Amino acid sequence: MLILGIETSCDETAAAIIEYKPLKKVLSFKIISNVIFSQIPIHIQYGGIIPEVAARAHIKNILPVIKKSLKNIDFKKIDLIAVTQGPGLITSLLVGLETAKALSYAWKKPLMGINHLQGHLAANFIEYESKNVFPAISLIVSGGHTELGLIKKSGHYQKIGQTRDDAAGECFDKIAKLLKVGYPGGPAISKMAEKINNKSNNIYFPRPMIKTNDFDFSFSGLKTAVLYFVKKNKNKLEKKKFIQNICAETQQAIIDVLIYKTIKASKKYRAKSVFLSGGVAANQELREQFKLQVCKLPNNIKFFVPSKNFCTDNAVMIAIAAGLKYKNLNKNQKSQLKNNWQKIKVDPNLEL
Ligand code: KG4
Ligand code: ZN
Repeated sequence: MLILGIETSCDETAAAIIEYKPLKKVLSFKIISNVIFSQIPIHIQYGGIIPEVAARAHIKNILPVIKKSLKNIDFKKIDLIAVTQGPGLITSLLVGLETAKALSYAWKKPLMGINHLQGHLAANFIEYESKNVFPAISLIVSGGHTELGLIKKSGHYQKIGQTRDDAAGECFDKIAKLLKVGYPGGPAISKMAEKINNKSNNIYFPRPMIKTNDFDFSFSGLKTAVLYFVKKNKNKLEKKKFIQNICAETQQAIIDVLIYKTIKASKKYRAKSVFLSGGVAANQELREQFKLQVCKLPNNIKFFVPSKNFCTDNAVMIAIAAGLKYKNLNKNQKSQLKNNWQKIKVDPNLEL
């Protein structure tokens, strides 16, 4: 079947088409198109996303992006439209959902609402088969979420921990703004940190909640620690090396907490695999250090992380999530999808 995926939950206007073969054991996807209009050049001047500005850019770009994703494909051949329903910025979500509803009605195609986090998780299946991977521990790290989940079997998800304040990506973004190193913050900080050897770095920031007896996270304290450190060392901020050292230590503090808690969860739940996803999973250091630590665990635990372009927001992951969800529906549920354009509502706080 051909699935059209649409994603507008934050600052990327994206549409993709995948060919999906719902085979019993093996997942089979082929990416036909993957179009992303990034709003980074628009938001760069503000150093962050202004929701109203993001929504207007989505309105301007959604139809050209969908049209481009259709390439030479006749819309009649599309079997299912999948759209992000939440979580995200409400006005941005509305643009994608209302467009998808209009297409569903006009083209007489079934419509499925997809949880954005489910999309991030599903990105792990773009390049890998899903055989013998459960129970699995999933860590989703994005600009809005830091969430640990237990997946006992396909289709199951149980949240076991989350951030109590800022998300890991948000922490990167806010510290990058404070240090004036660029936007978006994650890639900017990791670039600054690239040539720094952490072992010879004499700056130290806290690893918030690393030793707590749960699977929750907290990153606002780290942001405050960097803020006070910067205020105390104003005279050194001119030196590039000093900023690079702050970036390297910030990045390492975030990595340490994410890995420590995920490994702890993997041991507790005897996971057979670890899934890492979300925009922050594009961080090279995080990917490498994660892989190294997971490989050290006994029983050959597998480590999955999507390629970098499928970590940050895209519509392929939304279409894949829809395919996985569709596979588990019965005949009646499948036929209900035809009327979904009348029912689905955005939910900016949708939980996984
Ligand atoms: O998943 P995503 O594209 O959007 C949300 O769902 O939020 O994630 C965006 C977040 C931003 O906070 C951005 O700074 C972060 O992912 N990010 C990174 C990297 N690339 C993107 N963080 C660290 N290192 C990166 N290379
Ligand atoms: Zn995302």
